[in-house]
Amino acid sequence: MPTNSSSLYLPFGENKNAAWYGKDIVSVKQFSREDLEYVFGVAHEMRGMVERVGTLDLLKGKILANLFYEPSTRTSSSFAAAMERLGGSVISINEVKYSSVTKGETLADTVRTLECYTDAIVLRHPETGSAEIAAKAMHKPLINAGDGTGEHPTQALLDMFTIKAELKRFDDLTITMLGDLKYGRTVHSLARLLSLFNVKLNYVSPNILKMPKEVMDEVSEKGISQNEFSSLEDVLPETDVLYVTRVQKERFENADDYKKVKGAYIIDLDIMKTAKQKMIVMHPLPRVTEISMDFDDDPRAAYFRQMEYGLYVRMALLAMVLGKA
Ligand code: CP
Repeated sequence: MPTNSSSLYLPFGENKNAAWYGKDIVSVKQFSREDLEYVFGVAHEMRGMVERVGTLDLLKGKILANLFYEPSTRTSSSFAAAMERLGGSVISINEVKYSSVTKGETLADTVRTLECYTDAIVLRHPETGSAEIAAKAMHKPLINAGDGTGEHPTQALLDMFTIKAELKRFDDLTITMLGDLKYGRTVHSLARLLSLFNVKLNYVSPNILKMPKEVMDEVSEKGISQNEFSSLEDVLPETDVLYVTRVQKERFENADDYKKVKGAYIIDLDIMKTAKQKMIVMHPLPRVTEISMDFDDDPRAAYFRQMEYGLYVRMALLAMVLGKA
């Protein structure tokens, strides 16, 4: 990551020729290795500036709409904090039941309304593909904050930033994804981004929650080694990044299926005795029981640091799409 803190952002005016100016962020498929390096560079600068001065006026006068049709703590509050730390302001619609959505307003009409008042929209929606529909209906930048079981691109970008910050590289790492790989949009996006590098991917899940074939085929096309397991013990000792996910009760149609797999894997101090000393455990959060709180103070527990990295990455993305980076 660069240490020069003066080159990657634009204190005055907008750079309408910048590569990401006015763009939507709908899928990680939009990002190359070079794009990732660029995002990480800007995020690194944002971190330095937050540590030095706290709040900037880079996006002064700009307004972000935070439109969340599903619950969120981290994504909604970190985008709001990112915008405010850059000097902008936020309109939050977290309870769509109090908006005209309850009168039958379509997603397309809702985002077209909000873009009349704001400069960009962050959208979380329960349906896969909704971010693309919203982006097509709008003229201003749309940032996908999770579309059903599809993608969560900004989470994957902050996950990659976390790995780079903590382990300093991607190449030659063994990354083990654990838990709900079927419905977990964060792992769908992360596997795709990791496939830009020379990594080995292990997928550990109950049989009914395996990584979708569509994602595995895309990763396979990049020549990346992928292996599926049901037992974590088989792969924990070789793992450099253990990416734990919650089994998402809200995605199951059948409550009995959820009960069968909900406690399938639990990370605690005991099982982590078999892991490397220099490795990290990540989780997009929220967690339920899949990581025991007794592991939280272990230096390998990176999930709280991961949340903080998310602020800097989201500051970078907002500055980029609004022409300030
Ligand atoms: N990681 C994540 O998306 O968390 P929230 O659901 O709290 O936004």
